[in-house]
Amino acid sequence: MINKDIPNYYQKRREQLMKAHEGALFVLPSQKSRLRNPDVPFSFRQESNFYYLSGFEEVDSFLVLAPATSEGTNRSILFVHPKDPHQELWEGEMYGIEGAKKYFHVDEAYPVSEFQSRLTDYISRSQEVYVTLGQDFRFDQLMIESLEKVRQKTGRSGYGLKSMHDLREPLGEMRLIKSKEEIALMKKAAEINVKAHQMAMKKVRPGMMEYEVSALLNSVYESHGCPRIAYESIVGGGKNATCLHYKANNEVLNDGDLLLIDAGGEYGYYASDITRTFPVGTEFTQEQEKIYDIVLKAQKTTVDLVKPGVTFKELHQNSIEVITEGLMGLGFFKGPPREAIAREDYKNYYPHKIGHFLGIDVHDVGLYFDKDGEQRKLEPGMVLTVEPGIYCLPSDELCPEKYRGIGVRIEDDILVTDSGHENLTGALAKEKDDVLSLMNEE
Ligand code: GLY
Ligand code: MN
Ligand code: MN
Repeated sequence: MINKDIPNYYQKRREQLMKAHEGALFVLPSQKSRLRNPDVPFSFRQESNFYYLSGFEEVDSFLVLAPATSEGTNRSILFVHPKDPHQELWEGEMYGIEGAKKYFHVDEAYPVSEFQSRLTDYISRSQEVYVTLGQDFRFDQLMIESLEKVRQKTGRSGYGLKSMHDLREPLGEMRLIKSKEEIALMKKAAEINVKAHQMAMKKVRPGMMEYEVSALLNSVYESHGCPRIAYESIVGGGKNATCLHYKANNEVLNDGDLLLIDAGGEYGYYASDITRTFPVGTEFTQEQEKIYDIVLKAQKTTVDLVKPGVTFKELHQNSIEVITEGLMGLGFFKGPPREAIAREDYKNYYPHKIGHFLGIDVHDVGLYFDKDGEQRKLEPGMVLTVEPGIYCLPSDELCPEKYRGIGVRIEDDILVTDSGHENLTGALAKEKDDVLSLMNEE
């Protein structure tokens, strides 16, 4: 059934964007329909920017934000598929032109068949154009043809093409600071994800397959209203935990190994992204415990630093220092710590960065640096992950032998607040004793 109660925050976002860029035209294509098998489409998820500005969930549509002409005001325009009883018989109710205009608070709605001819007109009446090229060649071609028509119309005036900008930049900056409605959705995504990881901690037993754990996670996501996962679940037992984005999930879980789960459901289009690492059997081995303690210390001390004004670089630096000192204490490399850090010895075991922005996309949009290449400072309303890890590859001859094959990552989702931060996924156990006692619960 179609949703007739579309919140008005999509409209507010469009107005905010147009107001900040007077005279500019924004053009966004929706997700394209793509066939997975004959007559069978790939499962649908709306394109993130298109969703953020419209909430409209049909394929092969367009959203245009057109600047005010001398006669009028800024306008939001949706180009959608007209209602089609045959298609509705197979795939369910469509909004159609009337529905799009009525429920999505846009100023105008037209059939997609009119998109190209109207686009030329919108471009000629705008000072500059915001689009994302290079994502879909059919859309690129359409834009270029329209620009060419506009250029032809300028005759001998000498004017060339309109100036074009990548709309991901202004939109990324808007999406980076989450509104209260977005924070509510992210808290819900986080809460469901905590439940899923708790379920996995309770149910994992030696002999299970990695994919059985993935199925358990999915059952929690789906039964709590997540229509899909936010990214492919990583369920890596033993040495598979040392593969950063392991996705085969097809091996057996052995007693004595650790299991690394990095997974999250998507709720109302917002991602959660949690990693926990825990024993498949009943306890950590001494070596696993030592690696775990270093990662846990790096994770907790870094989370503690999150507040407005801090940079990702400062967060990463803290995790490097804790991991370097910890591994040095276990004989992985020689000191003094400052020299080991300068040599980047840690990179062999901690090859990734401390985290990333989180939102509609798991690796969310927004600039990590300003125009001078300086690190940007965190601000209230940003959400980021904090996820240090140590990965000792089984084949790594530099690594002390008894640690080879151990991989540990711990990851939480952190909201930056006025006074510091809120850990959205902090309800999930990560202290060793808490993890072990949760594993013993039914
Ligand atoms: N799950 C992907 C990541 O943690 O970045
Ligand atoms: Mn993750
Ligand atoms: Mn992550």
